Amino acid sequence: MQRNTVVALGLAAGLSVWGQKDWSDAQKAEFLKTAEVKATHSAPDGITGTSRVTLSNGKVTHDASVQTIDLTSQNRSGNSPPEPGFTDRYAYNLAAYELDRMLGLNMVPVTVIRDFDGKKGSYTWWVDDVLMTEKQRFLKKVTPEYPDSWNQQMHIVRVFDQLIYNMDRNLGNLVIDKNWKLWMIDHGRAFRMWKQIKEKNNLLKCDRVLLERLRKLDAAELHAKLDEDLTKGQVDAIKARAELIVKEFDAKIKKKGEGEILYDYLKGQ
Ligand SMILES: Nc1ncnc2c1ncn2[C@@H]1O[C@H](COP(=O)(O)OP(=O)(O)OP(=O)(O)O)[C@@H](O)[C@H]1O
Ligand SMILES: [Mg+2]
Repeated sequence: MQRNTVVALGLAAGLSVWGQKDWSDAQKAEFLKTAEVKATHSAPDGITGTSRVTLSNGKVTHDASVQTIDLTSQNRSGNSPPEPGFTDRYAYNLAAYELDRMLGLNMVPVTVIRDFDGKKGSYTWWVDDVLMTEKQRFLKKVTPEYPDSWNQQMHIVRVFDQLIYNMDRNLGNLVIDKNWKLWMIDHGRAFRMWKQIKEKNNLLKCDRVLLERLRKLDAAELHAKLDEDLTKGQVDAIKARAELIVKEFDAKIKKKGEGEILYDYLKGQ
C-alpha cells in the first residue's frame, strides 16, 4: 500500500469525555444498562434525534449516545423519495454491535437497549478521547497519523457497510479517537433485506482474518445473535451478502493475486 495515500469514503464533531478506558465490553454494557442518567444534551451535528446523555453509577461518570428512532416507510417523514421498505430503527445499533463482535472487528462501540423517556432506545458507549469525526478530518484535510493502519481500517469499514447494506455511512458516522482508531456509529439505516451488494466498487481490499470469518459466518449463529433486533429476512440477507462479498474477493484474488487484495490488520489486534 502506498504511503500517504489516504482512503476516504467520499465525503463530523468530537467530544472528549473522561471514561473507564480499560473496561471490558461486559463492564461497559453493565454500566450502560444500570447507571443513572444524570443529564441529557443534544448530540452535535445530528438530525435524527440522537441524545448524548451523561450516566453515573456513583463512582464512574461516562456519556452515551442514545437513539430512540423507530421509523418504517409508513411513518417516515421528509421530502426524499421513499425507499421501498424503509426503516430507521434504534435496535439496528445493537445488531451492528453484535455483528461487529461476531467478526472480531471491535470497531462499533458497546451498545445496549434500555428505556429512555418512556421509549425503548439504544445506548452506545461514547467513544473515549475523540479526536474528530471523519467528516471533520475530510473537510480540514488532516492526514491520518498512521496512514497504513488508517487505510486498512477504512477498507474494513467499506466491507462492513456492504455486509450490513448501510444506507447512511455519512462521514459524521465515523469517529476517530486519539490513537487514530476508527469507530463506526449510527447504524439505524442499515440492514436492508436485499441480497445484493450495494456498492461493489467499495470492495477493493480485504483483511485476511475478516475474509475467513465472512467465509465461515454461520447462519444459525447469526440468527441466534440477531433475531431479537432484526427480522429473519434481514438476517438471511446478511448471510447472503457475506457469500457475495467472499465470492467477489475470491475472484479478485484469482485475478490479481493475494498480495494485491489481502492484508493483515486484525491479526495483530
Ligand atoms: N458513541 C459516540 N461516541 C462519540 N461521538 C458520538 C457518538 N455518537 C454520536 N457521536 C457524535 O454525535 C454526532 C451525531 O451522532 P449520530 O450520527 O448518532 O446522530 P444522528 O442524529 O443520527 O446524525 P445523522 O442523522 O446526521 O447521521 C456524530 O457525528 C458524532 O460527532
Ligand atoms: Mg449520524
